Amino acid sequence: MSDRNQASNAGDSRTFAEVLTARASRRDVLAGGLAAAVTAVFAPPPGARAATGADRVGGVEPRAEPSGLLGFKPVTTGEADTVVVPEGYRVDVLAPWGTALDGGGAFSQEATGAEQGRQVGSHHDGMHFFPLHGSSTEGLLVVNHEYVEPRFLHAAYAGKPFDGETVIVTDGARDADEVLKEMNAHGVSVLRIGRGSDGKWSVRPDPLNRRITALTPMAISGPARGAPQLRTRYSPDGTGVRGTLANCSHGVTPWNTYMAAEENWAGYFRNNDTSGDKPDLPREQARYDVAVGAMSRYGWELAADGADETIRFDASRKADDATGDYRNEPNAFGWMVEIDPFDPRSVPVKRTHLGRFAHENVIFAPARAGKPVVCYAGDDSRFEYIYKFVSAAPFDPATASGALLDEGTLYAARFHDDGSGEWLALVPGKNGLTPENGFADLAEILINTRLAADRAGATRMDRPEWGAIDPTSGAVFFTLTNNTRRTEAEVDAANPRAQNRFGQIIRWREAGDDHAAETFDWDLFVLAGAKETSRTFKRRALGADNIFACPDGLWCDADGRLWIETDIGEDSLNTGGYAVFGNNQMLAADPRTGEIRRFLTGPVGQEMTGVVTTPDQTTMFVNVQHPGATTAAEAFAAGNLSSHWPDGGDKVPRSATLAIQRADGGKIGA
Ligand code: FEO
Ligand code: CA
Ligand code: CA
Ligand code: CA
Repeated sequence: MSDRNQASNAGDSRTFAEVLTARASRRDVLAGGLAAAVTAVFAPPPGARAATGADRVGGVEPRAEPSGLLGFKPVTTGEADTVVVPEGYRVDVLAPWGTALDGGGAFSQEATGAEQGRQVGSHHDGMHFFPLHGSSTEGLLVVNHEYVEPRFLHAAYAGKPFDGETVIVTDGARDADEVLKEMNAHGVSVLRIGRGSDGKWSVRPDPLNRRITALTPMAISGPARGAPQLRTRYSPDGTGVRGTLANCSHGVTPWNTYMAAEENWAGYFRNNDTSGDKPDLPREQARYDVAVGAMSRYGWELAADGADETIRFDASRKADDATGDYRNEPNAFGWMVEIDPFDPRSVPVKRTHLGRFAHENVIFAPARAGKPVVCYAGDDSRFEYIYKFVSAAPFDPATASGALLDEGTLYAARFHDDGSGEWLALVPGKNGLTPENGFADLAEILINTRLAADRAGATRMDRPEWGAIDPTSGAVFFTLTNNTRRTEAEVDAANPRAQNRFGQIIRWREAGDDHAAETFDWDLFVLAGAKETSRTFKRRALGADNIFACPDGLWCDADGRLWIETDIGEDSLNTGGYAVFGNNQMLAADPRTGEIRRFLTGPVGQEMTGVVTTPDQTTMFVNVQHPGATTAAEAFAAGNLSSHWPDGGDKVPRSATLAIQRADGGKIGA
């Protein structure tokens, strides 16, 4: 949902002057343009930094030749309504939106809201494969469903001039079953899958199959549990909430549970409170862009049945206090949600100590007994931050659980222009987080994570998306997808391009290779773009085999291959300066050599997202999200959809998972 990310952080927590250094000076950028800026960013840092500085990131002195990590022949950019993989690979479609969990019934666009609650949701995003008993042919595929396009979800919308967000409102109300279907198409699917003797993967009827939706009861845990800002009519003591929303990417804990991120949740609410003639939203809503106006994104608060689970999307004050209305409902969103996929009765838990923002995903460092548990997360909006959580208690494989995430320290990242970096603790009494500055306690800091990071002086980034950790080196990678609103006065070494249309991938290593460290060294792994606008850390331009833009999904496999998925927004895709990149794609990189090869191109209008392999690395699962999103409203009315993937013919497009295998049964990417 790239184009819905708001430019909400207009603050000036860090001026350019504060980050100006010799490594990438404003003069380089302004006077010399991109080439000079790129040279400055990748130039070895001066003097003593060379021994410990950013060029150490990613391992030893880079070699000139490919390391042999990438063994496939790159594919060309693509514009067709299909998936293209390298020679010697096969690709099958698994679990598209609307697939029944119990094995019954073919897909029908006419499914009711209740039926959708027992079907695979829409707009697949982050995903993990949990093997059953270590198997690489049987397991649980857990998939996030980020949002919906009502015009594809509802058969009755055909023939109308609707864009991807339009909903039908009649006399100020929405059809209650449409609202239910939309809520049930959000959330997470837990799918028991297996590989047949023909090599094809499928969803199997199984008691472990589960849908978690915008309605599923959840617990709130950690320091913000019970805070006054979380009290609602549904949960007067502020300990529970119904549902999870806008589940973009995910994480996997060291104790083998799944974490679903809540990203662009703010637009699902509206708040019409005013003071005088101005909107009067509390800071924990205003800083996150909760909607003001006639209706929220989909208008769920307008459901004709007026059910309690729908009116909560109106956060306006209606009662005498917070336990009589839903003024605080938005505060129960923006968290990471822990789910145990192996227990279908388990209650998902929102872990508040990981912070509240537009959570893209969370990546856990490899856990070591006796050491704290560490995870990293990005806030995907323009000029937002990268965070890290370090648990207070050490990891013990015998007893580890989600409780480890309820006590510890949340940090925000500051990237200095000399290639060093530091983690700013978001704890009471530090970095300006005092009662005088509006942060009475830890709960208040966490509910207002963005404001706390503003105050602490974290570096405003170009939309942090996924993080990944190279298991062979410990290096941490993050995609910074784009930020066309950054001005020349706002560039810094980590975000070195004004009007950044193509994005970059940043990486760092923690001091002493200790993920709990409070300092690190960083560099830019690659500046994405076309031949003229791109550079790898080896100072090479990208070319026909690997040009790409807007990196989003990111994952390191067990061998250290870095998989990169792109999300050029549907308004830009295949147009103007983006046309050269074709449809959104997936590439693989060798972090040591900087070599990058295009592995896959997707159908029309989609973004590639979600990537994981089976333990033996012979099947890779990848998600295709929002095929056909490039269909203009008039074209939709005329029945001219830009994509009919994966069913073909005149069918509506459906998000789906791909299962990719090699004909020779070998490792993916090798
Ligand atoms: Fe849901 Fe930032 O992508
Ligand atoms: Ca997206
Ligand atoms: Ca994106
Ligand atoms: Ca994303």
